[in-house]
Amino acid sequence: MKAKPVAHESVPKTLRSVSIIGTGSYLPKRVLTNADLAKVMDTTDEWITTRTGIKERHIAAADQATSDLAAEAARRALRQAGLAAEDLDMIIVATVTPDMFFPSTACFVQKAIGAGNAVCFDLEAACSGFLFALETARQYVGSGAITTALVIGADKLSAITDWEDRATCVLFGDGAGAAIIRSRPGVRGIIATAMASDGNLGHLLSMPGGGSRNPATAQTVKDRLHFLKMAGKEVFKYAVGSMLSVAKEALKKANMTMADVDCVIPHQANMRIIRAIGERLGSPMEKYYINLDRTGNMSAASIPVALDEAVRAGFIKHGAIVLMMAFGGGFTSGATLLEWRKPEPSQRVSAKDVSRVRVSNAQKRRFSTNASNLW
Ligand code: ACO
Repeated sequence: MKAKPVAHESVPKTLRSVSIIGTGSYLPKRVLTNADLAKVMDTTDEWITTRTGIKERHIAAADQATSDLAAEAARRALRQAGLAAEDLDMIIVATVTPDMFFPSTACFVQKAIGAGNAVCFDLEAACSGFLFALETARQYVGSGAITTALVIGADKLSAITDWEDRATCVLFGDGAGAAIIRSRPGVRGIIATAMASDGNLGHLLSMPGGGSRNPATAQTVKDRLHFLKMAGKEVFKYAVGSMLSVAKEALKKANMTMADVDCVIPHQANMRIIRAIGERLGSPMEKYYINLDRTGNMSAASIPVALDEAVRAGFIKHGAIVLMMAFGGGFTSGATLLEWRKPEPSQRVSAKDVSRVRVSNAQKRRFSTNASNLW
């Protein structure tokens, strides 16, 4: 089965345009360097840097769960958007490391930030999760079913990393990134999205233990099935091909070429993968925002953290065309093209306005599954 990207029309006639109006990110305090790893396992800074580009990664504290990282990123995104938590109609958390199987991590975030009006659920598409969640939320906001959505990519990969497997443990880190989306009349916002999945390759990157296939037992623990397993070389090949495919599909739908793209936010898995993509797309590395040297691969968190950093650092300028692309377990891949606009004061809702709207429209803004609310 060859994964065929599902392309979503650029400027779909049935959807309102949808923009990101605020971003936020959070990285745990503790930094684990390659030199630290070399002290406890048979590896070197030189091997890790040459093979991946990673120099260090952030590791969450034992008492920090994924929702703790996600909630902090959410608070920062709300501040940037000028919104209150009660103004959110929906929270989607993309993660492969939920706090627990249930309740959803999104529900934990809801409680932590006090987003009492939001409907909350998790989405699992591994490293492509943030882009899949962004597109899901865009459909709800674009259709008019809801007004405001919070999309989070958050992962505490250190919790499922096998620290005895040097081939994988050097690659990953923890973090969370968030984006708030709304319709902004007259602003293009998200221009096109392409997504693809290929379940035939799922075995190349997985965490086999703990689910209904291999419920937790003393044996599954002994067999180390509760850790991430990866066939690195095969994943590498898929990563390059699949990201190229979805990126080209999104560009085609938007009637654009790479020459139109000002900034690229690639999934931050490996510098060699990013360089291979850049060469094949014929776009210079100067357009690519890279933070994997400081963060490692944070799965669903990689793209939103990089996006937030790039926006705050001025790497992404007002009016820039941005291409985000990811690949991950499943296998999954996704690409999103958007036009970045700074939130304008007129688009912001002051705390006073939010509470006024909340009182008058509380029921209206609460998402319901009533068919009339759907498109
Ligand atoms: N330190 C030192 N040596 C190591 C290490 C390490 N940390 N890890 C592996 N090696 C050794 C291997 O044992 C092997 O030794 P040998 O030749 O004596 O057998 C040698 O290095 C080469 O190993 P390879 O696995 O062939 O190394 P490769 O060049 O393929 O690089 C890597 C490995 C970096 C994992 C690469 O395959 C890769 O980046 N793949 C893509 C992975 C990826 O992006 N995953 C994330 C995607 S999905 C998600 O984000 C969850």
